[in-house]
Amino acid sequence: MAKIAFLGAGMMGSAMIKNYLKGGHSVTVYNRSRQKALPLETLGAKLANTPMEAASGVDIIISSVTNDDASRECWNGRQGALRGALKQGAFAIEASTVSMDWVNELNSLAKSKGLHFLDCPVAGRPDVAEAGKLKVFAGGEREHVDAMRKVLSSISSSVTHMGPVGSGIAFKLIYNVMGAMQVAATAEGMFACEAAGIDLAVAAEGFSTGATGSPHVVRHSKYMAENRHENPVQFSARGRIKDVEYGVKLIEKYGAQSVLGHGTIQIFEQMVELGMGDRNDSELIDALRISAKRRMAGKS
Ligand SMILES: NC(=O)c1ccc[n+]([C@@H]2O[C@H](COP(=O)([O-])OP(=O)(O)OC[C@H]3O[C@@H](n4cnc5c(N)ncnc54)[C@H](OP(=O)(O)O)[C@@H]3O)[C@@H](O)[C@H]2O)c1
Repeated sequence: MAKIAFLGAGMMGSAMIKNYLKGGHSVTVYNRSRQKALPLETLGAKLANTPMEAASGVDIIISSVTNDDASRECWNGRQGALRGALKQGAFAIEASTVSMDWVNELNSLAKSKGLHFLDCPVAGRPDVAEAGKLKVFAGGEREHVDAMRKVLSSISSSVTHMGPVGSGIAFKLIYNVMGAMQVAATAEGMFACEAAGIDLAVAAEGFSTGATGSPHVVRHSKYMAENRHENPVQFSARGRIKDVEYGVKLIEKYGAQSVLGHGTIQIFEQMVELGMGDRNDSELIDALRISAKRRMAGKS
């Protein structure tokens, strides 16, 4: 069994930590707000005061935090994991959804400290993470991915080797851009159906059973029709915007203009402007209703 340092005990991190503990691994947890990590201590995790302390001497360091800034702080801040007394040949695994640029920089930093690096972002919401059924998209050398397969199976139903370092995060960002577009399209479509006098339950059924029925459309059209959104919030508007911004930057690096990506950012920004940035992505339909009402009132 492995000695793991886990950085970040948010919704995803806490769920993954519980499954690593269930898998029999020894887990030392660092979370910026220590309070949030206390329940994990009762489940057998050790708590560390800094990422550096957590990472010292372990076999594997895994991070699941909000964004590039949070990840940079945890790995390379003044008391970051990479400043610790590291075990040579240990693994550094970034499981957060961060930018491609940061993943490449982190790979170089980890290598310079004698670590093997993998980018292993995950797909699946916190409930899927709790069930240990995430999908892991792994970027790195094949032998390194194979060496980590068994450990990663504690949190996942599949570990797919996407290619060299960076390809895990590249795939995840593109996947999330496509997912966010579908959620945005569902909100716009459901809003328009309602305005056209169509019962939203009927619309949701129609979208879900027709050619439009991707898992995102099925789930989100139901939430919108029932006006019943996830509690606690599973995926916020701000989270959507962050992922799509990183994804669009990547797509545009290859010369394409991500017209749909920019549109998706713009539509979720309406939620932020209305003070709904930390609400569920499915509540986008409410933002569209409010914006439309204001626009129509402005016309009369
Ligand atoms: N939610 C989903 O459905 C989902 C699905 C797949 C992947 N992801 C990705 O998984 C990652 C974690 O998401 P989550 O849903 O678990 O978010 P979350 O519940 O908001 O947790 C965020 C974590 O990041 C930490 N953090 C934020 N800023 C920090 C900083 N400057 N320095 C150190 N730590 C910092 C937070 O610490 P505090 O507790 O101190 O705030 C917390 O541990 C993100 O990259 C997200 O995109 C999320």
